[in-house]
Amino acid sequence: MADNRAIGIFDSGLGGLTVLAAIKKKFPNENLIYFGDTARVPYGSKSRETVIRYSLEIQDFLVEQNVKMIVVACNTASSHALDEMRKKYDIPVLGVVEPGVMALTKQQQILEQKIEKAAVIATRSTIKSGSYDAALKKINPEVYLYSKACPLLVPLIEEGFTDRKATEMILREYLDEIIREDIHYIILGCTHYPLLKGMMQRLYPSITLIDSSVETATMMEGLLNVNGLKNESTNNGFIKLFVSDITDSLLDMEKLFFGGTIDSVEKVSLGW
Ligand code: DGL
Repeated sequence: MADNRAIGIFDSGLGGLTVLAAIKKKFPNENLIYFGDTARVPYGSKSRETVIRYSLEIQDFLVEQNVKMIVVACNTASSHALDEMRKKYDIPVLGVVEPGVMALTKQQQILEQKIEKAAVIATRSTIKSGSYDAALKKINPEVYLYSKACPLLVPLIEEGFTDRKATEMILREYLDEIIREDIHYIILGCTHYPLLKGMMQRLYPSITLIDSSVETATMMEGLLNVNGLKNESTNNGFIKLFVSDITDSLLDMEKLFFGGTIDSVEKVSLGW
C-alpha cells in the first residue's frame, strides 16, 4: 500500500540536514518535513528535562503535519527524549544513537575483525546521558567505549571553520587523548561532526570514522517496510523546512549542511 504522508525529521537546528541528505539520497520519492529549532539551538548544553520538553513540542507539531514517522536527527534529543516520544503517539520514532552503534558493528563485520575499543565524541548533554554506552551494551557489549564531550566543535563548524588552524588545534585537544588510548574507531555522535571528517582523517590517518547518517536511512527503510509505510510513488518527493527562527545565518547553514533543493521554508512558533 502506498503511503504518501511525509516523514518528519527534526534537529535542534540545521545540523540535522546532514541526516536529511542521507534520507533524501536513499528515498528520493518520500516527502520530507524537517523542523529545525533555530530559536533554541544548541541543545547540547541543556538539561535532560529541557531537551525532552522541546522534543515533545516538536513532535506535537510534526504530528499536526500528519507525518507517518519521525526521525530524531539530533543526537542530544535522541539521547534523552526517545522513550517519552514513543509513549506519546503511536507512530514510529527513530533516533540516531542506535544507528551509530549499529554502523560500528557493521564495520566490524566488513573488516571481519573484532573491534575491542571505540570512542564516541558528542555534545556534553549526549555524553552525560550515557546513551551510547547503553546502546552499545545492547547491540555490541564486548566493545569498550571511551566517551568524550567536544563542546567547542559545534560553534566552530557553524562559523564555517571546517578548514581552519584554530579548529585543528581544538580538535587535537579533544582527539589526542583518544589516540593515546590506542583507539582507532570514532563514532561521530553529533549532527555537525561529519563536516570535520576530512580534517580528522588528515590529522589522524589511522582512525576510522563512524557516521550514523547512512545507517539511519537503512534502519528507516526497515521501519517503513515493517509498518507498511513506504511511498510507492516514483515522483520526486518534496522537502519542506520549518524553523522556529529565521536567523541571519539560515541560508549559509542550509548550504553548509545540505545545499540541495528545499521547496519551502516557513517560520513557526511552538508552545513557549
Ligand atoms: N544537534 C546537536 C546534536 O547532534 C548538536 C547541536 C546542539 O548542541 O544543539 O547533538
